[in-house]
Amino acid sequence: MTPLQETLINKKTTNTPIWLMRQAGRYLPEFRKIRKVNTNFINLCLNENLSSEITLQPLKRFDLDAAIIFSDILMLPYGLSQKVEFKKNFGPQLGPLNLEEISQIDEIDFLEKLYPIYKSIKKVSENKIVKNKNIIGFVGAPWTLLVYMINKNSPKKKLIKDFFKDKFLINKVLLILEKFLKVHIEHQIKNGATIIQIFDSWAGLLKEKDLPDYVYTPTLNIVNYVKTLNIPIICFPRGIKDYKSYCEIVKPDAINIDYNVNPTSIFKEIKIPIQGGLDPKILLTDKENLKKEALKYLNIFKDHPYIFNLGHGVIPETDPDMVEYLVKLVKDY
Ligand code: CP3
Repeated sequence: MTPLQETLINKKTTNTPIWLMRQAGRYLPEFRKIRKVNTNFINLCLNENLSSEITLQPLKRFDLDAAIIFSDILMLPYGLSQKVEFKKNFGPQLGPLNLEEISQIDEIDFLEKLYPIYKSIKKVSENKIVKNKNIIGFVGAPWTLLVYMINKNSPKKKLIKDFFKDKFLINKVLLILEKFLKVHIEHQIKNGATIIQIFDSWAGLLKEKDLPDYVYTPTLNIVNYVKTLNIPIICFPRGIKDYKSYCEIVKPDAINIDYNVNPTSIFKEIKIPIQGGLDPKILLTDKENLKKEALKYLNIFKDHPYIFNLGHGVIPETDPDMVEYLVKLVKDY
């Protein structure tokens, strides 16, 4: 078994494994070099030679326990034919959401559009560098994708006015998302993904009363589907206040916590394996502080199945030396 499987499946508490969200990305000069001449982010994700190379870049530098496929959660709306663009210094910008159009997409159209992603995963899985490591496939949670598809760009602190006005549209889109998220997960696994992570980056925007309809129920359907494939599933409902209820209802194999969560209380409340937590901004400080903060998480979770990771993705300004230091620190713990 790989170190991550030991933690997720056997609930082992020693030899804490480590991988980082956004471990392949702009803080790496070798990524920036490729990105500079590949100005279209979607096309870069759909270039199986480059996306597989980018996926492996951090593994060539650091002793990480997993590769996470270089892609994006917004490749799913792209596969459903909604226009998706990534604008410099702005982030994603989606085109109009046409219910009739996305209702007509069938599995063959969808897979044809996203085919290079699966080929890229296959290429990564064939590289000897991932031996005894996991390949993490991922999707956005239905709620977070719905947010992007209706809001059209990152909502920052709140949703557009009238977000919930068209309930018919919302319910239809959620059903379409459920169907195609399953297809996307199935094909990532078929091509070599051995763990799936669900990113629910905007779960924290919802009021408690709306969580069952938009977060718990749609996510549970996806989680149960992944379980039928015998693949561990990690959920990251970022910004949610009540991680305990989420775990009890959705029952993932592991839960990724954000950096606003108090690790000591979460340790007391949650029995399943825990991942992440460290504020990515700590990587912008100095080694002494990084050591102190990382040890805090390692010590709190020393008798709990724990996967070292961050409370959100690596920030582009991060010095790769700090990442190297962190990985060594966790490995030597
Ligand atoms: O973690 C990894 O290394 C795998 C690759 C990955 C990317 N995006 C690549 C990416 C993953 C897992 C994601 C998930 C993702 N994408 C999420 C969920 C996690 C989170 O951050 O909350 C979300 C909300 C998105 C949507 C998205 N993609 C945004 C808002 C942005 C722009 C902001 C930003 O961080 O740049 C992206 C672009 C993006 N996705 C980049 C990368 C490497 C940067 C693209 C660039 O080089 O300009």
